[in-house]
Amino acid sequence: MLPKRRRVRVENSGGAVPPSTPPLVLFPGVAIYLAEPRMGRSRRAFLTRLALSKGFRVLDFYSSEVTHVVMEQTSVKEAICWQEHMAAALPCCPRPALLDISWFTESMAAGQPVSVEDRHRLEVVEPKNEPPSPLWVSIYACQRPTPLTHHNTILSEALETLAEAAGFEGSEGRLLSFRRAASVLRALPCPVTSLSQLQGLPHFGEHSSRVVQELLEHGVCEEVERVRCSERYQTMKLFTQIFGVGVKTANRWYQEGLRTLDDLRGQPQRLTKQQKAGLQHHQDLNTPVGRPDAEALQQLVEAVVVQALPGATVTLTGGFRRGKLQGHDVDFLITHPEEGQEEGLLPRVVCCLQSKGLILYHQHHASHLGSPTQLTRRSHTLDAFERSFCIFRLPQSPGAVLGGVLKPCSAWKAVRVDLVVAPISQFPFALLGWTGSQVGYVLLRLPGPGWANHTEGSYFPQLFERELRRYSRKEKGLCLNSHGLFDPVQKTFFHVVSEEDIFRHLGLKYLPPEQRNA
Ligand code: CTP
Ligand code: MN
Ligand code: MN
Repeated sequence: MLPKRRRVRVENSGGAVPPSTPPLVLFPGVAIYLAEPRMGRSRRAFLTRLALSKGFRVLDFYSSEVTHVVMEQTSVKEAICWQEHMAAALPCCPRPALLDISWFTESMAAGQPVSVEDRHRLEVVEPKNEPPSPLWVSIYACQRPTPLTHHNTILSEALETLAEAAGFEGSEGRLLSFRRAASVLRALPCPVTSLSQLQGLPHFGEHSSRVVQELLEHGVCEEVERVRCSERYQTMKLFTQIFGVGVKTANRWYQEGLRTLDDLRGQPQRLTKQQKAGLQHHQDLNTPVGRPDAEALQQLVEAVVVQALPGATVTLTGGFRRGKLQGHDVDFLITHPEEGQEEGLLPRVVCCLQSKGLILYHQHHASHLGSPTQLTRRSHTLDAFERSFCIFRLPQSPGAVLGGVLKPCSAWKAVRVDLVVAPISQFPFALLGWTGSQVGYVLLRLPGPGWANHTEGSYFPQLFERELRRYSRKEKGLCLNSHGLFDPVQKTFFHVVSEEDIFRHLGLKYLPPEQRNA
């Protein structure tokens, strides 16, 4: 319900609470006045704090300095009437544009004032006659195509933030609830414009619905903004983005009062070799890797792999296989058409890459395929393939690799690369597993058998994988992981030669990698 229209006053009692220290003004040419008629005091105070925290100047009183008047849920007629009152009170004042809250929220999201366009100028808010049509999706992410770009980015990103924050607090249940709801939004064929459209959708609990409602009504969600601005969230994000640091370590450091990368650099005795490498190359490793870099790496790796074992193949997996244009690393899956030939290959490959000056850091993990529990383990433990987590020294100019060796003084950049080796019989499962679904690590549990990851926790499969495994177990009574598909009643493994075979055995419509961005 809209509050009753108030009488316009030139002097506003102002809901804005001034911060104790004067805020930093990043955009001196912009002075915002949040006009209160329909906004309400607490809402106005919240928006003021938000804008101040992002370096905007917000004036408590309407004056000749104001450059942008922002209103919410106000009709053109009302706005003009408001402006007339203001003009009468301050006759010499220039008339700034009257803007809808959309200009404000876009500017907050952009972290800077966006230019004023027609769509930002106030429009009459007319009640729509036709209710938006209800939406429907399948329950499991593996039953529905999820493209890379979709129609509900702002909504899904807000829920992802809450999922991530829940993960930082070790709350797996909440993490999953938010992530599942975010994933549903990504799969929708159109933008959500009304809360009523959520009614038939799976995984929308009270909390996620409330977040969507706030975003639809106000353009921002107070809880999400609070999380994003919090020291806890920002520090946990900073720390967990370091190669070799999981939630557990990040949390310990946070509890001990560490906050910045320099704090960590000042305490080298606390860092593992991997974390030191992560910090050393932090800037490069936090610059997204583009597709051209991924392709250049594929050529470098392929050349070495084929030389070490003729006939062996290198497949680009991870986000790039799902069609992403950028990633935090590059993932490769290596195999050979003859089972067993791949044994012992990875150390030779890494050694050769090292001799060419292409490796800055690597951590090898032997295969645990021999372990008897390996193939039947339940869903969210890590696979047992031989792997190497590397930091490559990627030449930045063509021709920098001279005769296969990096020229000493040529420009380069550090890039994270995961190399994984699978025997051909398990290749389709490994490919399905390593193609995954989504950016970001969430590391929650203590190490399981055979698991040694980037850090201390076990890997938390991304949503598509997780949902596929859950679907297999709950709907088909089968056990799926990156090694195989197992029938626990018959005690048999399914033989497959492709990802399509796996979908078929599970009674699912095949989804190509580009549709697995759940
Ligand atoms: N994976 C895994 N074990 C790991 C790391 C990753 O099984 N220790 C699998 C995950 O299941 C995931 C895939 O490898 O599906 C890719 O992981 P990752 O590189 O973290 O994510 P991407 O989707 O490739 O995202 P990005 O583009 O940011 O790298
Ligand atoms: Mn990746
Ligand atoms: Mn990876």
